[in-house]
Amino acid sequence: MDKHFGADVPTRLIGNDVEIPLVGFGTFKIWPYEAQQAVEDALSLGYRHVDTAQAYLNEAQVGAALAATGKADETFVTTKLRNGDHGYEQTLRSFDESRKALGLDVIDLFLIHWPTPTLDNYVDTWRAFVHLREQGYVRAIGVSNFLAEHLERIIAETGVVPDVNQVESHPRFWQPELEGYCAAHGIAVEAYSPLGHGSDISSEPVEVAAAAHGVSAAQVVLRWHVQKGHVVLPKSTHPERMRQNMDIMDFALTEAEMNAISALDDPAATVSLDPHTFCAPQKLEDMVARGSVKLEP
Ligand code: A2P
Repeated sequence: MDKHFGADVPTRLIGNDVEIPLVGFGTFKIWPYEAQQAVEDALSLGYRHVDTAQAYLNEAQVGAALAATGKADETFVTTKLRNGDHGYEQTLRSFDESRKALGLDVIDLFLIHWPTPTLDNYVDTWRAFVHLREQGYVRAIGVSNFLAEHLERIIAETGVVPDVNQVESHPRFWQPELEGYCAAHGIAVEAYSPLGHGSDISSEPVEVAAAAHGVSAAQVVLRWHVQKGHVVLPKSTHPERMRQNMDIMDFALTEAEMNAISALDDPAATVSLDPHTFCAPQKLEDMVARGSVKLEP
């Protein structure tokens, strides 16, 4: 079933002609006790795309916000499989828990959160994803934090190309080679930490472009992403920032501005984890132990 997001929501197509809104509301580190309110705010401001993950421990709150606002049928919802649930059968079980937590029969996009190459079962996991799409439980399937070598392997061993690779991407670290690989294979890039955790908005070419177009620096960075063809997942808990992060379609960066911002790339400027080695199970106890979730205000 196609979803309709409204005429003023910019979208692109992924995979099997599934329409995805270009700007999604990211919910990483939006803690369980605040997530329902944040997602309700985002939906009431016009967001029609919400990105969560089992590891964020806020799927139930995202589901509650979708139910409370009555917007589930017009919102694109993504979730991701935690590392500790890789493997064919475990993936199917785990997916069902996500569906229940989110209160949805069909999930728009399901991603393998990390390749966990040291555990070496992402190919079997991917086969389960293909099965879920064939059965109609998900509309699109993809991966996250996959490097070219991991993409190459699942494509070679299953013949199925992911619809999406959701990766760290921001002006100081936009992974040009990986982006080239994805473009060559028709894999859409979704940018997480699109503002570099906020730090990439204070750089000279961004500030110059912001002044030239009369917009904020964050809007320039998000516009740079969209002109590169990325789906973006900015995260904010402030309604005014949520609003401006969506409002990026009424101006265009020049080629010179795009190039100056792209030139900030520095392979050392990552703000995330290393896909070669990160394989923590991402279950509650582990998230608490690593300080990756806050359960009370
Ligand atoms: P806050 O939640 O206080 O608004 P990223 O999405 O790259 O991880 O960046 C998120 C960080 O950027 C958060 O600290 C968020 O702060 C900040 N941020 C989000 N939107 C804006 C904006 N429009 N202007 C300035 N900072 C922003």
